[in-house]
Amino acid sequence: MNLNEERKEGSISLHEAPRIPSHEEKSALYEQCESELRAILHGVTDTMTILSTIVAVLHHRMPHYFWTGYYRDVDGMLRVGPYQGTPACLAIPYERGVCGAAWRKGEAVVVEDVHAFPGHIACDSRSESEIVVPWFLQGTMIGVLDVDSTLLAAFDDIDRSALQRLASLWWKGNVRNDKLYLSLIGDAAAQRYW
Ligand code: SME
Repeated sequence: MNLNEERKEGSISLHEAPRIPSHEEKSALYEQCESELRAILHGVTDTMTILSTIVAVLHHRMPHYFWTGYYRDVDGMLRVGPYQGTPACLAIPYERGVCGAAWRKGEAVVVEDVHAFPGHIACDSRSESEIVVPWFLQGTMIGVLDVDSTLLAAFDDIDRSALQRLASLWWKGNVRNDKLYLSLIGDAAAQRYW
């Protein structure tokens, strides 16, 4: 089934009211996202294509998502893109925000109420809760995946483990010559790995 057919059947919802799915539904939706991504990205080697498609599938599948996107480590800052949602902060210093906290720790940060998180950066005042997971390529952290919700406490361990997996799953040997991939991972790290 292609994306158009799925959309006609209503399985990708573009305008569903925000709601937090039950644990069972959340897990099932993440499994759906992974199998859909596996089908769409089979054989794809372009890093920007992979990133954009992960963000698009997650954003439109998950009813508790409001903003979904990567921040990449470029020239000393976490720089946005690709993303889906309202226009966001373009660059975040490592020492700031939820993104910076996840980056410094090298692990996921789940925030039930962004207003209670010291240093949270509000790109859109409608965001109430947030999850940021590190994005690893072959053991090197090169950015984070950030998701916001307009609902309080929208994210939990199910989101954490699914997003950690999906954020980094797609980069295998066949992307080794992709220019964006090489610039993100850094030539030295890439050479060390390959
Ligand atoms: N809230 C984030 C900033 C990015 S936006 O949510 C898209 C933070 O505190 O790092």
